[in-house]
This record gives sequence, C-alpha cells and structure tokens, in this order.
Amino acid sequence: MTDHHHEEAVEALLHENRRFAPSADFVATANVGPNVYAEAAADPEAWWAEQARTLEWATPFTSVLEWEPPFARWFSDGTLNASVNCLDRHVAAGRGEKVALHWVGEPEGEAADITYAELLERTCRAANALESLGVEAGDRVVIYMPMIPEAIVAMLACARIGAPHSVIFGGFSAEALADRITDADAQVIITADGGFRRGVASGLKVEVDAALTLCPAVTTSLVVRRTGQEVGWVEGRDLWWHDVVDPAAPTHEPKAFAAEHPLYIMYTSGTTAKPKGIFHTTGGYLTHTSTTHRLVFDIKPETDICWTSADIGWVTGHSYIVYGPLANGVTQVMYEGTPDAGGKDRWWRIIEDYKVTILYTAPTAIRTFMKWGAEFPAGHDLSSLRLLGSVGEPINPEAWMWYRKHIGGGRCPIVDTWWQTETGGIMITPLPGVTATKPGAAMVPFPGISAEIVDNDGDPVPDGHGGLLVITRPWPGMLRGIWGDPERYADTYWSKFDGMYFAGDGAKRDDDGDMWLLGRVDDVMNVSGHRLSTAEVEHALVGHPAVAEAAVVGAHDQITGQAIVAFVTLTASSELHGADDREIIASIRAHVAEAISPIAKPRQVILTPELPKTRSGKIMRRLLRDIAEHRALGDVTTLTDPTVVNMIDGLMAVHAEDD
Ligand code: PRX
Repeated sequence: MTDHHHEEAVEALLHENRRFAPSADFVATANVGPNVYAEAAADPEAWWAEQARTLEWATPFTSVLEWEPPFARWFSDGTLNASVNCLDRHVAAGRGEKVALHWVGEPEGEAADITYAELLERTCRAANALESLGVEAGDRVVIYMPMIPEAIVAMLACARIGAPHSVIFGGFSAEALADRITDADAQVIITADGGFRRGVASGLKVEVDAALTLCPAVTTSLVVRRTGQEVGWVEGRDLWWHDVVDPAAPTHEPKAFAAEHPLYIMYTSGTTAKPKGIFHTTGGYLTHTSTTHRLVFDIKPETDICWTSADIGWVTGHSYIVYGPLANGVTQVMYEGTPDAGGKDRWWRIIEDYKVTILYTAPTAIRTFMKWGAEFPAGHDLSSLRLLGSVGEPINPEAWMWYRKHIGGGRCPIVDTWWQTETGGIMITPLPGVTATKPGAAMVPFPGISAEIVDNDGDPVPDGHGGLLVITRPWPGMLRGIWGDPERYADTYWSKFDGMYFAGDGAKRDDDGDMWLLGRVDDVMNVSGHRLSTAEVEHALVGHPAVAEAAVVGAHDQITGQAIVAFVTLTASSELHGADDREIIASIRAHVAEAISPIAKPRQVILTPELPKTRSGKIMRRLLRDIAEHRALGDVTTLTDPTVVNMIDGLMAVHAEDD
C-alpha cells in the first residue's frame, strides 16, 4: 500500500528526466571517486574490513564476516570500546580542544560549546557514576531525555561500560515508556526534570514517575535538572545527576568489548501492536555509521560543521549525531528546541551563527519551511552550507527543488538517504562527488551494500519497473535481532524471500537502473518521518471505553507525508454517540496521545456504524485508504455490505474539518 500520490509524482518526474551532475569543486575534493563502487563490489568484505581498520581496536580482528542466515557476526574476534573511538582517540591525537558540540538551547541566548576533552571528561564521570550505582556490562539502561548534552554523555557512558542503552523518544507517553522499560528489562533510567518546547517547560520526570509505577524492577532513576520545575521524588530511587555524576572521578579506564557486544536497543514500530526492540552491536555498527557519514556527507573533519536535526531518541540521532560524527571527530551543532521557537527563522539563524556546512534533515521539516515561506531563510547568510541531506521518508520533488534553491542556494548537492532503524546506517544514497542526482530519488546502494528490487517471487525487476526492496548480502550495521524475540526477527525480515532481507518498502527502478523509494508496503505508517504501526494505534483506540472497533490507515498529507485516519465504531453502551460526536472524537484523540504519544494522535477520527469487511471478516484497509484519500472507489464486491462504504464516505465530509 505505497503512497499513490508519491507514486504519481515519481511517474511525472521520470518523464522530466531532470538531473544534477556533481559540481567540479566536489569532484576535485571528494573523499572517494567513482571507482569506489567497483572496488567495494569486487570484495565487499575486504572493503568493509578496510573501513573497519580506520577505527581503534584494542584487539584487531582477523575474522570479517560469519554468516549463518539470518544471523551475521562482523569482526567477531576483535575488541574495541565505542566511547574510546568517539572521544579518547581524538583527545589522544591532540584534538581535545576541538569543539565537539555547539549546543544551542531553546531559550534564546542559552548555548554551550563543548570540546572533545570536556565531552570525554563528562562521559568518564558518568561512567564512574553508573558503575558506582551497580550498573555492569550487559545491563540495559533506559534514557529518556531532551536534546541536551547530557543525553549524549549518558549514551557514551553506557557504551563505555558495555551497558546497552535504550533511548526512548521524549515524546512517548508514560504507558509507552513503561512497555519499553519492561521489554528491555532495565533497572536504571536516566532522565531529566523536563525539557523546553516552544518556550514551555514540558515534564519528563512526571512521565517517568507514572511509568515506574508499572515497572517495579527499576531501582534507580538519575535525573538531570534542566528546567528547574518542581518534580516528585521517591527517596532511595531518585537521584540528581549533579549529586552523583558531577562529583565522580573525571577519568575512567575503559574496557574493550567484543565487536558483537550489544551497543543499544532502539524500539520501533512493526506491523503488530507491540514495538520491536531492534538491537545493534558495536564493531560493525561503528564501522557502518562512521564510513557512511564520512563518504555520504563527504566529511572534511577539519572544517565541517555538521547539523543533523533529528532527535536523539530516534535512530538518525544515534547514527548521525552520536556514533558516526563523533567517531569521525567532527564539530556538530545540537539544537534543543522546535524550529519555530524564537521565530520561524530560528534554524537559519543557527546556520548563520555557527557557519554550518552540512545540514541533514527530514522532508517533513522541509515542507513545513516551504509553507512558512522562503523569506525566512532568505533573511540569513546561508553561504556556509555546502551539502544537504534528507532522510526518513520519500522526498517529493517539489520539496527537493525548494530545498536546493532556498536552502542550498542552488549550489549544494542533496543526498537523499534511504535506511531504517534496522539497517543501522545509510544504505541507498548518492555520493556527492560521484552521483548525478535526480530530485526525489535515493539513487544507488552505498558501496559494499547489495540491494535489489524484486517481484513477489523474489526475482529482480527490470529497469523501468517497480517492486519490493531487498538487501541481498549482510552488512556491518545490520540489526542483530529483535530483543528477546529471535523468531520474530527471522519471521519479519528473512522469511518472505530466501536469504534476502525484506525491508518492507516499495521501490522502483527507472530506465537508468536508479532507485526511487515509494513508501511502505506493510501496515507501517510514516507520519512526519515518525514510524508508527496501524495495529499499535488501533490497539490504543480500542482501549478507549467508548470504542468497539477501530481501523487505522495512513493517508497522504501535504506536510507530514502521511497522516493517521481512524475509522471507529462505538460500543452499544456508549451513550455519547449521537449526543456530541465532537466531544467523543476529542476524547478518543486525547486517549491515543496518552496511550502512545501526541505524534500518534489521529488527524481524523471518523465515527461509523460499521467497518467494511470481507466475507472472511478482514477489515478492508485498502478501501478505507481510498476513502481517506478521496479516491474513486474500486471493486467493492467482496464487501459484506457495500453500503457501509458509501456511509463512511458520507461521514468523511462531516468530520474532515476535525481539528
Ligand atoms: O519507509 C522507509 C522510510 O522510513 C522507514 C524507516 O523508518 P525508521 O526505522 O524510523 O528510520 C528512519 C530514519 C532512517 C523506511 O522503511 N524512509 C527512510 N528514509 C527514506 C525513507 N523512504 C524514502 N526515502 C528515504 N530517504
């Protein structure tokens, strides 16, 4: 069920055949030339091993890949420490005074420059503190924090002592947080009193307190004071970061861990209501993220100022704020707040102030900036920018062209990077000094990555055809499993096609063989680049006392890419129905925000007496999607009651203006 609007746009574009060749400047100075593809393809394992050797290993590896489908081990006899690779080795090489982070707080004027030496010292203190709290290698630590430097310090401190972290996006509700803490079986959580969003201090500790009533196994919560708001306190469990971390010793002797030692768990949505704990290990993941960061963004560590606008609570923050860029020793901007805090030009001011050279963001942000108007970026000097990136969802050609013109001044290449929480790092992308880009296309697999587009039988489609995206060889950053559920791992990714990783995305090859991503083919939605499952939202909906049945679809949305549309039948006992639909709809939407996150709140809730079902009782989601996107309805003869559809179609008009 890929996005029809996007597919149509892709078709239109293919006719135009627009492309942008790399500029002479880029070609002359690029980190790699066109021969990188052939070199990597000749012996992918040897190529990846060569990249892996750019890291600092305590014990060099001799084994590159062990592949017992679907389980891969990379560099397995090598040992290393991720935080040493991100911090100590830069300091040891004399780059301790280099700024690692230009942190920009949401409140105007609040900012801090943190050098590599300082980041190392703070990480050592946190590592010592965690050890003094009894955290040992292998123990899971949950991190639930705003975009402040302590979030990175916490992650690196966990990595330093071999305790896999599980960062939960700060927008998740207490209930969602509790589910993830329980699944990861964590005993320690690191959080903050709250964070700033649009000038308001939001609460995080309050969510943690609610979550922990459901998680008796948690013994310790370590709390950063960020906003100064009043917080509840449980003696013996809650500890202030400044009481425990600040006085801890400033040095810490790192241990080396096996390359396959777990580095982190990142929860993401699958096709069922239960989120999946995607887990990544150390050596392969660091190799993949640092290599892709270096080549896709054509990094010049001495001069580049990188800004990845993602939240640390998502994989993009893990791979392209924390592990990739810090392993490469670059200077970064990290911004705490929303794009419109302090004015709709906040981002452009930051780029001007810090002379950002590389911006990596999501199409949904670009479309929001388009809506606000080109005058906001135009009012600032963005000439420091030399490269732009896009990630998280298909980028529509209009947004691509606007990004190029109004942010990139017509001179910056755009790299549209396709990847997933599961892949750990970028998989399909142009290389800025090599690839002629096409607006809207992710183009080609990264060197050393083997991707294909196949039909339902697993056979590669010819140029000019669409199909399903698969990865045909193991890669260093690939997920090593779903936490606690090896069967689901094998089932979800490796059972559709023999020996191939099924990504869940539709894709098309154009006549040149270049790849265009068309969106998910399963019941995973992509709302503003946030990944949500229809089942998860349906599960939350039926948890509302007035809801009997619910069906959720992702419908096209101008700004957010997809938006959630929920079709709902009410319980017979629900007195509310008919009395005040608006009130009940508001209450249902609030309920979903409470159960999952405000990002999961349906754009529309449509009350209907029945849901369209096939004779076998399956909800006809495709049909609901057609309705939600106002498309002419196709064949409805398999419906038990075709009149239901007409009824829903009528209701649509009534509630389309909701919100
Ligand atoms: O559908 C694809 C879409 O985002 C999904 C992965 O989501 P998540 O694991 O949250 O990771 C997002 C950040 C890497 C994919 O299955 N997606 C991601 N990047 C692109 C994309 N779709 C099209 N083009 C992209 N560049």
